[in-house]
Amino acid sequence: MRVLVTGGAGYIGSHTLLQLLRAAHEVLVYDNFANSSPEALARVQQLANRDFEVVTGDMRDANALHAACAEFRPEAVIHFAGLKAVGVSHTQPLDYYTTNLAGTLNLLRAMDAQDCARIVFSSSATVYGEPVYLPYDEEHPLNPLSPYGRSKLMVEMLLRDWAAARRGASAVMLRYFNPVGADASARIGEDPQGIPDNLMPYIAQVAVGQRAALSVYGDDYPTRDGTGERDYIHVADLARAHLAALDFAARSTGCEAINVGTGTSYSVREMVAGFERASGRQIPCRIAPRRAGDVARMCAKVDKAQSLLGWEAREGLEAMCRSTWEWQSANPQGYRATE
Ligand code: NAD
Ligand code: WQD
Repeated sequence: MRVLVTGGAGYIGSHTLLQLLRAAHEVLVYDNFANSSPEALARVQQLANRDFEVVTGDMRDANALHAACAEFRPEAVIHFAGLKAVGVSHTQPLDYYTTNLAGTLNLLRAMDAQDCARIVFSSSATVYGEPVYLPYDEEHPLNPLSPYGRSKLMVEMLLRDWAAARRGASAVMLRYFNPVGADASARIGEDPQGIPDNLMPYIAQVAVGQRAALSVYGDDYPTRDGTGERDYIHVADLARAHLAALDFAARSTGCEAINVGTGTSYSVREMVAGFERASGRQIPCRIAPRRAGDVARMCAKVDKAQSLLGWEAREGLEAMCRSTWEWQSANPQGYRATE
């Protein structure tokens, strides 16, 4: 299939790109490298030993998107490109709505012009907000707690209306839980700029000595050990879910939101212990106040992914920690050393 991958140089995009190439799809990556490196694409090209097209372009640039779609004529789109820092979205909400929401509008118009009616979208479990019950199923009320989360929910609404109005259209909105880990090659992985917001890259940077200690944001939550629990999903499993979603989009019409998680949650302490086992390094921790906007626990109900996509997670905590450690220790500066 001819697949346009927006944000294909990013963390999840690069892992998905590798699997798309290995599955013999024809790919065009559209990315402005705002939060990624061309080096990630060079490494994917080496790993897959296959070429693909790349356009350096911005989701906010409707003309550039239109031109890229007109040239490539995609049969389907996987839409990763966007801004994802929850904290920054509170201070820069217009940037988040412009890139995430208006960027998706530009994309749908460019797709419409080429009669491309299949899209797989990177949504997020953050659309659920404070749990009314757990595990979250896809019918759980939607009440995101940040401008970032609201931009994801707005895109979901947009896609629902687009798919309803367009004959033959198919939109699959994958609600990711907490993606972690790296490709088994240790050649591609998560490479945050500056101080990592997320737990796993922070732990990894402590393990290689770039940061002194992990701040554990609260140990008085009503969870197994008092620290926050999350449903971590290996990025290779998540990438595979996108290929399954592409297949599903090719044989269905309409719009579906689908959780992508494992159905199991781990606490911060359990993640630290898992990483210590995988790396053989001590991770110094200090207890810090709770982080604003955090919920105690999140966990996915994963039946819908299994029934609609025939997909389920394969990798557990050990592989998540091991692959993160192998990536981080082989690339302590991420992609920067080779740029
Ligand atoms: P990432 O930042 O690594 O990748 C996003 C990519 O989009 C980057 O390559 C970036 O350069 C590109 N991009 C950003 N703004 C752009 C613009 N204006 N025009 C063109 N390209 C642009 O993030 P990721 O972790 O790979 O996430 C991919 C998607 O999944 C995002 O939409 C994110 O919101 C969503 N998501 C991520 C997580 C997570 O924890 N990583 C969880 C749920 C959902
Ligand atoms: C996990 C746990 C923290 C860092 C975020 C976004 C969400 C989605 C995934 C995009 C929590 C604790 C963390 C640290 C810590 N992204 N923690 N010390 O908050 O579940 O989800 O990423 O859609 O929208 O909100 O992930 O990795 O930041 O935190 O104790 O230095 O680790 O409190 O319990 P989160 P996270």
